[in-house]
Amino acid sequence: MCGIIGYAGHRPAATVILEGLKRLEYRGYDSAGMALIQNKELNLLRAKGKIRELEDKIAQCDPYHATSGIGHTRWATHGLPSEENAHPHPDYEQKLALVHNGIIENHSLLKRDLREQGYSFRSDTDSEVLSHLIGLELEHCWDIPRAMSAALQKVEGSYALALVSLNGEGQVWATRHSSPLILGLGQGENFVASDIPAFLPYTREVIFLEDNEIVQVSSSKYRVLDAWSLKDLDKEKVHISWDVQSAQKSGYRHFMLKEIMEQPRVIQDCMSGRVDLASGQTVLPELDHLPLPRRLHVVACGTSYHAGLWARNLFQEWAGIPAEIEIASEFRYNPRIIQDGDLVLAISQSGETADTLAGLRQAKQQGQQVLGLCNVLGSSIAREADGVVYTQAGPEISVASTKAMCSQMTALLLLALHWGRKGGKLGDSDCRDLLQGLNELPELLDAELPGMREKAQKLARKYSWSRSCFFLARGTYFPLALEGALKLKEISYIHAEGYTAGEMKHGPIALVDPEFPTFALAPDNGLRNKLLANLQEVRTRGGPVICLTPPGLEQDANDVWEIPSCPEPMNGFLFLTALQLFAYEMAVYLGKDVDQPRNLAKSVTVE
Ligand code: F6R
Repeated sequence: MCGIIGYAGHRPAATVILEGLKRLEYRGYDSAGMALIQNKELNLLRAKGKIRELEDKIAQCDPYHATSGIGHTRWATHGLPSEENAHPHPDYEQKLALVHNGIIENHSLLKRDLREQGYSFRSDTDSEVLSHLIGLELEHCWDIPRAMSAALQKVEGSYALALVSLNGEGQVWATRHSSPLILGLGQGENFVASDIPAFLPYTREVIFLEDNEIVQVSSSKYRVLDAWSLKDLDKEKVHISWDVQSAQKSGYRHFMLKEIMEQPRVIQDCMSGRVDLASGQTVLPELDHLPLPRRLHVVACGTSYHAGLWARNLFQEWAGIPAEIEIASEFRYNPRIIQDGDLVLAISQSGETADTLAGLRQAKQQGQQVLGLCNVLGSSIAREADGVVYTQAGPEISVASTKAMCSQMTALLLLALHWGRKGGKLGDSDCRDLLQGLNELPELLDAELPGMREKAQKLARKYSWSRSCFFLARGTYFPLALEGALKLKEISYIHAEGYTAGEMKHGPIALVDPEFPTFALAPDNGLRNKLLANLQEVRTRGGPVICLTPPGLEQDANDVWEIPSCPEPMNGFLFLTALQLFAYEMAVYLGKDVDQPRNLAKSVTVE
């Protein structure tokens, strides 16, 4: 989704903003812009396309004396990607400009009212109403927070916005409602941004802004105000432990590859401080205040949903806790019968996904307890849930989620084990063995990664002609098949579907022909022979089969991809990594934009 950065300091703002926007590129965008106040003039620079187009415009007009300004990467919702629709949007008299992330739901009504008052619009965006509304309020009072407050009272929807004004050179104002915004506190410079990497090279001291707070920053000061009462608020500063390195490619060609290769470390980091191998105990103080759940309602989207689906069996088998997994956009409009003692578990890497956040809020409104499983520290879901378990994976920059799922699976496994032990379903030695297995996984995975990548490369080349394919699995591997299909389609644009292998003959098999490959996940378990029989049905119809399997077992496939034997459920991490690498290598081979696939955004903060 759109990225925002605002800067007030001592450096050339254009450079800081440009660099910040580049670090927000991963969020997905189709145009970019910035507004700077220089020599009492409002400079607006906007361009369709990539940030380099904006850079070209900046190079032509030398705006390097400005030391404050705002920048934006836009992911189009209302109005095509174009220069006119790119942010910042000025007010009618060009005295202020603002950037906006989110959706103004009542923009049509507001536009009609403004038109009746003689205003005209230069763009097709919903965001432009915000600049006119605030500009209009400023005709009555020259206090910007007051004007923002009055204007925002008319607005319905979600927003994070940042604003500069001719009447406040050297300052930036910002506010949020259901869209992330973080204040970064530097030495003689301050920042606002929709995500921490935007200002990470300059500071790791941050304040997480809550909904309906307005912030005013200059180079030396900041104020946070309640958006409605306009009273000053005391906010807690938080030190971020990520370093710049963790938000850079570190020699890898793509963030996605770096993040896949980091997975052994991600498992270790997620376990770190949470596991006592000798006693088989899990240490999760985050759960101390929550009773053992009677039933779980897991709510998530996309890859996070697949992680939840993968963990369902663990909750049921290890902890005896029935678990229902719901896609958040369905959960929020389809209220469940949630009873006393049930727990809602909201899984979200970003902690900002609008549907998951809405599901969480809805559950809380019904008086339910909600546990968040998030990666991003201080994110909305992390703050609004009754408890949060952080996945500790470090920043995930690639739009296609990889290491976040690996860390979610690790954390979910620890949760299931923790509740299994607490509820008396798992004994000491069961827990010890399982934790030992998990502890050995990073080394095994690390050793396998180079060979897996090589195999993924070969297979991607061989099957690069595919236009459509299946990912088949049975039982607990089905969520991984769904994830394999999602990864392939989102970054290589090859159509792919995940199916439970037994369901094939009920319709999908009609698609199979020699140009329709099937990727099968064939672990060494009780369902293997059933799966092989399903694959026979595919082969009989001329469909090529790639079989991902532990070594030394009977199979019948066009291509066999052997991964090492490893006990269940830890082997799921090996299957996952192979599928991620296959999708990655396919996208690279086909020359796609791996880290920023078309039409996608990293953090989906709109419904
Ligand atoms: C796929 C992907 C998305 C996200 C989904 C939820 O690679 O990244 O499917 O998993 O948008 O995002 P979070 O986990 O941030 O709630």
